[in-house]
Amino acid sequence: MTTPAPTLETPFAGEVASAEEAAALGPDYVSAVGKVIASHVRNELAGATVFDEPAIAVAPGPREKWLACRIAMEEYGHHLKFNKLSSELGLPDPRAGRALSTFDYPLTTWLEFVVLKAIVDLAEVVLMEELANCTYLPLRNLAVKLLPEERFHASFGRAHTKEMAQHAESRPRIQAAIDDLVRVTLPFFGRSVSRNNDLFRLWGVKRNTNDEARAEFVSRGRSFVVGQLGLEFPDVAITWN
Ligand SMILES: [Fe+2]
Ligand SMILES: [Fe+2]
Repeated sequence: MTTPAPTLETPFAGEVASAEEAAALGPDYVSAVGKVIASHVRNELAGATVFDEPAIAVAPGPREKWLACRIAMEEYGHHLKFNKLSSELGLPDPRAGRALSTFDYPLTTWLEFVVLKAIVDLAEVVLMEELANCTYLPLRNLAVKLLPEERFHASFGRAHTKEMAQHAESRPRIQAAIDDLVRVTLPFFGRSVSRNNDLFRLWGVKRNTNDEARAEFVSRGRSFVVGQLGLEFPDVAITWN
């Protein structure tokens, strides 16, 4: 039986239950799924190492340290679970690639950490929600399993940011962190013109273009920053190249 080759108008819409089935579909499918998984392997590890683990040390009290420990544990766990999918597919070690520039943001305070979780983990939620509909079932199932944790990280960030925003003296620092973090998060979604994103959509790994995902992040981010904090959302472009 031959199935017609997928196109962007009629993408692949099957369900692929295992690494063996992915291999049987061909190298293009494995490469599309593999690239998405590899970026999560790298970014979950980079985030845990440069943000979540250091946040334990700057957390102001035992309760905050406990929360930071839990978040760091979960993010390292995400790295390990994506890495397991990567080895099942027989992919080369994804850690050889470079993590995103987002992870160059220098984190020094608890305030920056809570704003970071509100902003950067919102981006992670948007990306993972897409994977929860992915044609590769091991990846779909993992995304469904991890989404409650990512949503918890983002809601932790929002709740703590909101609390700090009640103190007038903190608001300029919160605004500055938002301005910086929104800008470093935008490239997370990839370039506006992206051969990789075309491949992801062709194979039903993702449904949205990079700009559509970025627009979703901006819209949800703005509604939190403006609607709930009464601060300004930076004036940013949806396109990125
Ligand atoms: Fe994560
Ligand atoms: Fe997270």
